[in-house]
Amino acid sequence: MNVRALRSSCEKVWSAVWVVAMKPQVVFVLGGPGAGKGTQCAKIVQHYSYTHLSAGDLLREERNRKDSEDGSLIDSYIKEGKIVPVEITINLLRKAMEETMKKDENKFRFLIDGFPRNQDNLQGWTRVMDGKADVKFVLFFDCSNDVCIDRCLERGKSSGRTDDNRESLEKRIQTYLQSTRPIIEQYEKQGKVHTINASQDVNEVFADVKKVLDKEG
Ligand code: ADP
Ligand code: C5P
Ligand code: MG
Repeated sequence: MNVRALRSSCEKVWSAVWVVAMKPQVVFVLGGPGAGKGTQCAKIVQHYSYTHLSAGDLLREERNRKDSEDGSLIDSYIKEGKIVPVEITINLLRKAMEETMKKDENKFRFLIDGFPRNQDNLQGWTRVMDGKADVKFVLFFDCSNDVCIDRCLERGKSSGRTDDNRESLEKRIQTYLQSTRPIIEQYEKQGKVHTINASQDVNEVFADVKKVLDKEG
């Protein structure tokens, strides 16, 4: 083998190693509305090398973008507590992941908060991301519906969110029970779910989260 061929082979091997090493590592973060997903993700980011991407935040950002073609659809889905078609959400997530990794190649670990929330979300993920990202596990923040509703109503006093009101919350809880719980159960059958008692106070919840992350890496 001449020097040029050897160098070319080395480059190919190195680039394959790089792709594998940098493949996004994903933790899905699920739980009812107000369970504390965003609060805990913010704490995780302070202590571990994860980037937090909230599907809800990305959708609200897209809804507010002046030239968005999907703004009014997203707006009505959010108020109704319905799950936006995955084509929209997966594009936002994919772009956010790519941009994060482009800016800093060491940022390949992601907390994807509030996704996948139904079968359509899961199918969209599989279609677009299968083989391109590894789902390590699911962090499930388990909290009673009443506590979830109370927390969102309290948050609604200052959040400015169009869905932190009793009418939207009833719909959001129904969506959670009918569409999201089955997704969590599906991952449970694969042994991929870590359930956290999210009714405790913020620091107690985080202590349990830390136990999981310290074990899982
Ligand atoms: P999610 O992202 O799951 O909808 P958030 O993290 O936004 O939930 O939390 C919903 C509201 O409840 C926020 O106002 C937050 O400050 C509050 N909160 C979060 N975790 C707890 C907790 N463990 N105990 C009491 N209140 C909490
Ligand atoms: O997670 P968060 O509470 O911010 O989500 C707010 C709303 O955004 C949801 O009730 C839903 O209407 C929309 N959403 C969605 N698909 C997701 C995540 C959020 O349609 N995967
Ligand atoms: Mg949230």
